[in-house]
Amino acid sequence: MRSPGSSTTTGRATVRLAVSHWDMDGHFAVRRTVFVEEQAIFSGSDVDDRDFEPGTLHAVATTGDLVVGAVRLYPTDDAGNWRGDRLAALADHRTRGTLGARLVRFAVATAGRHGGTRMDALIQMPNVRFFSALGWEPCGELAVYHGVPHQPMDIPLSPGP
Ligand SMILES: CC(C)(COP(=O)(O)OP(=O)(O)OC[C@H]1O[C@@H](n2cnc3c(N)ncnc32)[C@H](O)[C@@H]1OP(=O)(O)O)[C@@H](O)C(=O)NCCC(=O)NCCS
Repeated sequence: MRSPGSSTTTGRATVRLAVSHWDMDGHFAVRRTVFVEEQAIFSGSDVDDRDFEPGTLHAVATTGDLVVGAVRLYPTDDAGNWRGDRLAALADHRTRGTLGARLVRFAVATAGRHGGTRMDALIQMPNVRFFSALGWEPCGELAVYHGVPHQPMDIPLSPGP
């Protein structure tokens, strides 16, 4: 799944696609910590069928031997549309070294490299400003997803260098 050169390092964190069982375990553990335990958006597990579809990519942010961030991305059709979701940084790694921003930019760049032309995401309201600062724009009406209001936002993709 991993393309050559497809990783970025920021501060002590490296952002890259998950390539091993260790990466995947860490990816799912971060999501569980944030979306099940911290935010209680999901009960028990946030893993769904999408995680096991062949086109789905999972990314991790690692510091040393710890996975501290995660994001998931996948194509939603054959016309170049991709979706990003399950963006999460462990609480004690937030607003420290642009970890979340790097995960978002990595997802955007990776989808572009895979031929995507547009990525969308459902954004929790407190994070709309964060995504706007990264070039995303609102693209639809507010929607309730798993009981939480979300703003649909999107960004154009390019194949990159
Ligand atoms: C959203 C999230 C991934 C951001 O990660 P982070 O590591 O804190 O973000 P960064 O440190 O990269 O922030 C980059 C910039 O955005 C700002 N920022 C971070 N979260 C923000 C928010 N919710 N609203 C506005 N600005 C925000 C940071 O202060 C920083 O600003 P600066 O560049 O001026 O210093 C993280 O808060 C998180 O995991 N939240 C819980 C899960 C969640 O809400 N997921 C998203 C669902 S839509």
